[in-house]
Amino acid sequence: MAAFSQSEIDALGARAEAMVNELALISAEPDRLVRLFLSPEHRRAADQVAAWMREAGLEASEDALGTVRGRLEGQGKRLLIGSHIDTVIDAGKYDGPFGVIASILAAEHFDRAGTRLPLGIDVLAFGDEEGSRFPVTLSSSKACAGIFPTENLQLADRDGMTLAEALKAYGKSPDDIPRAAYKPGEAAAYVEVHIEQGPVLEVKNQPLGVVTAINGQAHLKIEFIGEAGHAGTVPMSMRRDALAGAAEAMLLGERLARESSGEVVATVGHIAVAPGATNVIPARVAVIFDIRSGSDTAHAALIEALRGGIQEIAERRQLRLTVTTPRQVGVTPCQPAIQDQLAEAIRALGAEPLRLGSGAGHDGQAMATLCPIGMLFVRCRGGISHNPLEYASPRDLGLAVAALIGFIERFDPKKLA
Ligand code: HGY
Ligand code: MN
Ligand code: MN
Repeated sequence: MAAFSQSEIDALGARAEAMVNELALISAEPDRLVRLFLSPEHRRAADQVAAWMREAGLEASEDALGTVRGRLEGQGKRLLIGSHIDTVIDAGKYDGPFGVIASILAAEHFDRAGTRLPLGIDVLAFGDEEGSRFPVTLSSSKACAGIFPTENLQLADRDGMTLAEALKAYGKSPDDIPRAAYKPGEAAAYVEVHIEQGPVLEVKNQPLGVVTAINGQAHLKIEFIGEAGHAGTVPMSMRRDALAGAAEAMLLGERLARESSGEVVATVGHIAVAPGATNVIPARVAVIFDIRSGSDTAHAALIEALRGGIQEIAERRQLRLTVTTPRQVGVTPCQPAIQDQLAEAIRALGAEPLRLGSGAGHDGQAMATLCPIGMLFVRCRGGISHNPLEYASPRDLGLAVAALIGFIERFDPKKLA
């Protein structure tokens, strides 16, 4: 088992931080980090990641959904490690990229040592975890897991370009998508290193944590249809104001989540108002609720209460209503034996392996349909994420890379049975 001195951990952390900073320079905008799936920035970031993979001794390739794959030879099954390189709008620079960089540095450790691992390693850099461009998420990891819904190819981004057109413009052929899928039994496990994106590790003063499960997530798309009218002449009693209805629904969702005593969280991050003029009573409003929970039961109960409440608002305000659920995924458990082997690797570094759930979604939600999954969390300052203030210390980054190396050395797929 590799043992790391503090200076070796700090050296790993410094390298990781430099690579995170380098990747963060690749953005569609000069003043904030924006790197969307299949964009020119994705292309440049993918090329940078492929170059790092080759320098680390990996054989780099790319699949039909743009996932960059770094292969380290080994016997039998493959251990998949990685994360995503796309970002939200005005993103932090660690969410995703650090997991890919940690995986490259870990694979490089074994390549440099000439270690004959019992398993091959594939480092995966997914291009679409955030769903910031198309109205779906996890497209690239779903392709690796063999569950990519081909109907999603017709989904369009805000400029009207379909996913199929974007793939072709990126130099990929949708016909090759089936080849991106791992064969059943080919992958022993998928393990991802990621910043926690929450405050627990910092509050508990622990640098690393082991994820027990990824919370379930639902997107509830609500469209209220009222009637446009003159903002100055229509009497209040005669208005069918779609935005006022949506506002009431949003506050209902917030109240139900607050009343769930922490079991469920809910927010509306996106709203579309038509026609959108100040002096016109809003005729159509669409909002998307993002609702998450570590309990499928509590999740379902809140969604049912919200749907009932929204129906009552619509009837009372004489609004037409459409409700769709473009995204619904239950709680995704992390495999207990992988949790234990991650915990052993953290303990070997002298840290206490705290176990915690993930409120954030991850590619592991797709990869769990292919193979057992595990996640290693890294403390991030103030729990801040999806925000340019996102930060993790080089020392914690170095510890995470060392813990991933320690996990890979310990990983025994026979224990997963
Ligand atoms: O939304 C999420 O939880 C993830 O960051 N895409
Ligand atoms: Mn992420
Ligand atoms: Mn994210």
